[in-house]
Amino acid sequence: MKTVAIIAQKGGSGKSTIAVHLAAYAKSRKVRPALIDLDPQASTFDWNEGRTETDPVSPKLFCLRARENDLPKAIQQAKATGAQLLIIDTAPHSNRDAATAAKLADFVLIPCRPARFDLKALISTAEIARLSSTASAVVINQAPPVGGKAERAREVIQGQGINVLPPVLHRRTAFEDALTGCRAVHEYDPESKAAQEIAALFDCLRRGLKLTG
Ligand SMILES: Nc1ncnc2c1ncn2[C@@H]1O[C@H](COP(=O)(O)OP(=O)(O)O)[C@@H](O)[C@H]1O
Ligand SMILES: [Mg+2]
Repeated sequence: MKTVAIIAQKGGSGKSTIAVHLAAYAKSRKVRPALIDLDPQASTFDWNEGRTETDPVSPKLFCLRARENDLPKAIQQAKATGAQLLIIDTAPHSNRDAATAAKLADFVLIPCRPARFDLKALISTAEIARLSSTASAVVINQAPPVGGKAERAREVIQGQGINVLPPVLHRRTAFEDALTGCRAVHEYDPESKAAQEIAALFDCLRRGLKLTG
């Protein structure tokens, strides 16, 4: 089982959105997923609770709520289900949770919006990832679909010595619309640009993690 921790000190950067999408998309690609939600707000857990086991398009996934001190146990429970890809969603403003998740993961994914305050907050998140000694990279999320902002942000972030993954997630209403119905974009509108972007992000992580499904 490979584990990806999604961390960002900034709220609203897209941690939960990306967590549920990676897990749901993995399932559609026959890579067995599991989710752990460390955020007391439980967006990821609640999204999954809105799904049903028998739904052929949007099946309920294995998802646990956990606290930082029982994370190792939750990871073992996920592993016992036969999961091949575990995604850990974390709370913003919680250095301790993020640090523990980062240490226990195989890869740390840091969503960041290409906006001034987010780029500033990224420095402290990147430091948590660095201290964990786990490989990490930023994924630029909610980039405006036009105007080149994502590429400018990429240069700024890389200039700080922080890795940035090639795939970019743009601001797309399909994300909001899909999440409202406890779905993922590839389930809601498989032809959408949002679905293509999630596929590209998943493939990038899959290659990096050497995940076979
Ligand atoms: N690429 C995107 N396009 C449009 N809306 C997005 C995108 N990513 C996230 N959102 C929306 O932004 C809000 C915050 O995202 P969320 O995943 O809850 O962030 P976090 O978990 O980091 O606090 C949510 O309403 C979500 O639907
Ligand atoms: Mg969240």
